Amino acid sequence: MTDATTALLDELRTHVGAHHVLTHDDPGTDLGAWEQDWRKRSHGRALAVVRPGSTAEVAAVVAACARSQAATGVSIVPQGGNTSMVVGAVPDATGKQIVLSLQRLNQVLALDAGNSTLTAQAGCVLQTLQHTARDAGFLFPLSLAAEGSCTIGGNLGTNAGGTQVVRYGNTRELCLGLEVVTPQGQIWNGLSGLRKDNTGYDLRNLLIGAEGTLGVITAATMKLVPLPAAQLTAWTAVPSMEHAVALLGLAHKTLGAGLTGFEVMGQFALSLVARHMPASKVPLYETTPWCVLLEVSDHESEEHARAQFERLLEAGMEQGNITDGVVAESLSQAKALWQIRENLPIAQAMEGLNIKHDISIPISRIPEFVRVTDAALAQALPGIRMVDFGHLGDGNLHYNVQAPAGEDAAAFLRAHETTVNTLVFDSVTRFGGSISAEHGIGSLKVDKLPGYKSPVALDMMRAIKRALDPTNLMNPGRVVRVQV
Ligand code: FAD
Ligand code: MLT
Ligand code: ZN
Repeated sequence: MTDATTALLDELRTHVGAHHVLTHDDPGTDLGAWEQDWRKRSHGRALAVVRPGSTAEVAAVVAACARSQAATGVSIVPQGGNTSMVVGAVPDATGKQIVLSLQRLNQVLALDAGNSTLTAQAGCVLQTLQHTARDAGFLFPLSLAAEGSCTIGGNLGTNAGGTQVVRYGNTRELCLGLEVVTPQGQIWNGLSGLRKDNTGYDLRNLLIGAEGTLGVITAATMKLVPLPAAQLTAWTAVPSMEHAVALLGLAHKTLGAGLTGFEVMGQFALSLVARHMPASKVPLYETTPWCVLLEVSDHESEEHARAQFERLLEAGMEQGNITDGVVAESLSQAKALWQIRENLPIAQAMEGLNIKHDISIPISRIPEFVRVTDAALAQALPGIRMVDFGHLGDGNLHYNVQAPAGEDAAAFLRAHETTVNTLVFDSVTRFGGSISAEHGIGSLKVDKLPGYKSPVALDMMRAIKRALDPTNLMNPGRVVRVQV
């Protein structure tokens, strides 16, 4: 370690306390949890994990890194819950990156019932926001399977989607204000609870979805909505993707704004939950290619919700879009059905390493996309297994590829990942879609993006990055590559 690096680490210790600067040299310290991503696609090596306890400490850490960058070559990787699907929050292998963990900034700062807003520090776990809102009679409608460990800062960093986007939008739509530490270590307090503010460029929305490349989000003011009087869940068997899309149209018509969830799940994906989590009783999947999970939220009453849902399911059956279905009778049944859906990524991970595609396509074109792309993949790589599920209500499919049964998954990925990605992303492009709907770009897709995004858009993105972070201190090699 150079003198400059030693001096930087010493300075960081003075800012956050010695026990909040963790390094490989500390006896008995294992940094693996911060260095390894959730999907086990990358295991980097951090110079240090730094855990500030306040916005002022974050600012001091960033400023110190910025001052020493020329001498040390250091850069910063912000990390919340480390649930990124695209290797966005872990260090690379250089040993020069500092993981800036936001996990100690975990307080809800305010709930303004009159303004229907909640302000929380960035390291606050999503579930804490949900519970705080609920205790005050509100719903915080961001919901995803990682909600017990992901943080609101990470949700904002990735502009996360989840299972209620069809009604409430992505994280960006739920955010009214941010507090941010800039790459120079300055603090921008933009924590307004304003629903209208046209005073120039929209910095808040620029920082959201920037994946930590433009600054560190330290706190956010989020929108709350009234708690519905009732929420009901149904699980249906549908005979094809065409029918699933037709059912979505019917659900929009019948339920209007009451439709708060519309998730599609393929047969093989569900069979993985049944196999790896035998305690979950997966309904209906054995005899149908697709199941759809629907949720209705109603502001009148449970009876009203049930009547509406029954009307929808009857019409769906009459039109042949549904072949079978169950409506949860109780909250615990509804939870069990959602648990099956939320367990899909975990069951897929238990099956082994895999190639994930988090794509969006205009909803009307999804059936044809799936038919054409499935056929092309099967022809190119006979025996591969498709683990398909996702947020059909948002046109967002997790169109995932698992190695053929019995084949070594790591070897399959090494040999075929590029072929599979190219085939799928080319097809996505032909169907007018996006190669990342909600997970972001991270480092996993950073070298794919230039092949699929407009060069003009990429130039604008690079110009923004260079303007806000001219020395490439913040999460370099994620989203877009820039030369400094
Ligand atoms: P991290 O993984 O720690 O970081 C994610 C990115 O944000 C990184 O680039 C990081 O540098 C940056 N970042 C983190 N904190 C900050 C900050 N304070 N300021 C600036 N940048 C920051 N995503 C969806 O969109 N929809 C889903 O339904 C969904 N389901 C998931 C289910 C599972 C089981 C898992 C493991 C992941 C899922 N994800 C989903 C992916 C993931 O994006 C979300 O879990 C979440 O938004 C990431 O939050 P995090 O705190 O873990 O962020
Ligand atoms: C989900 O919808 O479950 C998440 O986006 C995670 C995944 O795609 O595996
Ligand atoms: Zn998802």
